[in-house]
Amino acid sequence: PRAIAILTSGGDSPGMNPAIRGVVRAALHKGIKVYGVTKGYSGLIIGDMTEMNSASVTNIVQRGGTLLKSDRCLAFKDPAVRHQAAMVLKEKDIDALIVIGGDGSLTGAHLLTQENNINVIGLPGTIDNDIYGTDDTIGFDTAVNTALDAIDKIRDTALSHESLFLVEVMGRNSGFIATHVGIACGAEMVVVPEYETKAETICFQLANNRLLGKGASGIIVVAEGQTPGLTTHLANVLAQHQLEAKVCILGHIQRGGSPSGHDRVLASCLGAAAVDYLCAGYNDVMIGVRDSIITDTPLKQVIEKNKKLDDAFFQLALLLHK
Ligand code: F6P
Repeated sequence: PRAIAILTSGGDSPGMNPAIRGVVRAALHKGIKVYGVTKGYSGLIIGDMTEMNSASVTNIVQRGGTLLKSDRCLAFKDPAVRHQAAMVLKEKDIDALIVIGGDGSLTGAHLLTQENNINVIGLPGTIDNDIYGTDDTIGFDTAVNTALDAIDKIRDTALSHESLFLVEVMGRNSGFIATHVGIACGAEMVVVPEYETKAETICFQLANNRLLGKGASGIIVVAEGQTPGLTTHLANVLAQHQLEAKVCILGHIQRGGSPSGHDRVLASCLGAAAVDYLCAGYNDVMIGVRDSIITDTPLKQVIEKNKKLDDAFFQLALLLHK
């Protein structure tokens, strides 16, 4: 390609900045022009983009959020709007687009290339880690560590007061964050959308802990799931079983903050690889990492298949505090 555009879309994730930097620096090295699109697909459809140089991405590798800003653009679900976006790119002689985002953003990228003659490459940018075709997503590691920092503090209070906390972490459709965080913080229980957890099971587990001499305090990590107020509802159900639990919702702190070393390296490698794959003639694929090897997966598969939470891994989270 002679010129490419890059955008970040959907919920921001720590590591988007080093990914942008990886794309820009690798492209410039190959003599390719790069345009940074502001605010995801919303900016693309109105042509809000500027040409980037090496200095445009200086001093961002350690910053959370996204320099290019992001948006959840519902209008992009309309094929006419996608056509308009393709026209914008063609007018500026841009022949490829790199999209960093989650499931919805990668769906938009796939449809854009299917319907219009624009090459696209996707990069998995989401804290949720729920993307098929990659073991890891940009931002997941940082989000897990951010949640752990908070939970370790909550643990001090739980122990001091012998109290029980329900800590809600992000993950509307998936329990990857909750399960990793649960294992790493030594949670007494992990509740995820993929499995049903009965209040009786939680009560039994906590009673058992007391029998084992572990005291009455506890941390239960709950993935937010699709029903708003799920964690508060769970606290109410536990109250009916004579278990008083305090609710602590970590929320958007999990999306921000300086990316971890792991995420900076992952994002930098994937950003540079996206340019390499484009130059090698790839289109309509996401670049991810499987078994520690950078690899491509057709976007069609990425959006049609679900990455499953490994059953044995989830069972381990439950077993480790027994
Ligand atoms: O997809 C990333 C994510 O952080 C989810 O874990 C969460 O459910 C959602 O975004 C929250 O989105 P919003 O910021 O739009 O409320």
